[in-house]
Amino acid sequence: MTVRELQEKILKLKKETNTAVLAHSYQAHEILEIADYTGDSYKLSVDAANTDAENILFCGVHFMAETAKMLSPEKRVFLANKDAGCPMAEQMEKDMIEQIKASDPDRTVVAYINTTAELKTVCDVCVTSSSALRIVKSLDTDKILFIPDCNLGSWVKNQIPEKDIKLLHGGCPTHAAVTVSEVKKAKAEHPDAILLVHPECVPAVTAMADYVGSTSGIMDFAKKSDCREFIIGTETSIAEHLQYDCPDKKFYPVTKNLVCRNMKLTTLPDVYNSLMGISGKSDSDAFEIIMSDELIKSARKCIDEMIRLGG
Ligand code: 13P
Ligand code: SF4
Repeated sequence: MTVRELQEKILKLKKETNTAVLAHSYQAHEILEIADYTGDSYKLSVDAANTDAENILFCGVHFMAETAKMLSPEKRVFLANKDAGCPMAEQMEKDMIEQIKASDPDRTVVAYINTTAELKTVCDVCVTSSSALRIVKSLDTDKILFIPDCNLGSWVKNQIPEKDIKLLHGGCPTHAAVTVSEVKKAKAEHPDAILLVHPECVPAVTAMADYVGSTSGIMDFAKKSDCREFIIGTETSIAEHLQYDCPDKKFYPVTKNLVCRNMKLTTLPDVYNSLMGISGKSDSDAFEIIMSDELIKSARKCIDEMIRLGG
């Protein structure tokens, strides 16, 4: 079967099952083509809350599908590949954060959305990479514990030196692996290109960038920019999508190693098999996100707070 034929079957099954497909921008182009909603983690959480579809099929990683379930608890939410997790989301235990809170009760806990629902239950407000700076600035407290990404946290902290922002050691293993020498090499190879990076990169790398932003932020910036060449410091798929969308510009991944293996687990056949499972037409299991009402109620408070503060 060709990719096109499989995509046709998927489009038909989506209609039959009243399923909206949400795909993070790190997914493959052939998946983005059949998705109803695409974008960064913040945009997708808003889309999940607003869709009228009966079911949501998420092409991304586990915490994103969990967030969609919390925002649309009346819907059935499925993750297209059950093994797609985000290592950063699993890095910190709820108990450890509770202990820190007990010893330092005045600190507001700001959690990057890349966290488990369990951990979100002990956090005060969520942020995404596109909203972290704005939300931390807008909080009417100066004492903050920012978890789990110390690189995103450092980037925020550097721009709001007046706030006391405590960081813990955590972060994205994929973005944090980008080195200054890789950036220098890419700049030497493409001297006319400007550098756009995700704030999950280490501070020495974000300090070299012409623009720092979320996946959607990077894509919007590159599309609107008058520049012709760009070095892209986030998952390699973003340089590929941009090249496809803007054939008259040039996009270079900062390093070919910037690949999120978890994001890449989901394939078009996974999407098809999940929809077949949802339709009941086959024995193939669609992986459904199941959460207790109690967990949803407790974990979504910090997501509601993020949305109240304007993402
Ligand atoms: P965005 O908020 O930019 O979608 O980032 C999510 C993510 O996991 C980046 O690695
Ligand atoms: Fe998680 Fe990093 Fe992959 Fe994003 S790129 S999903 S933060 S492991």
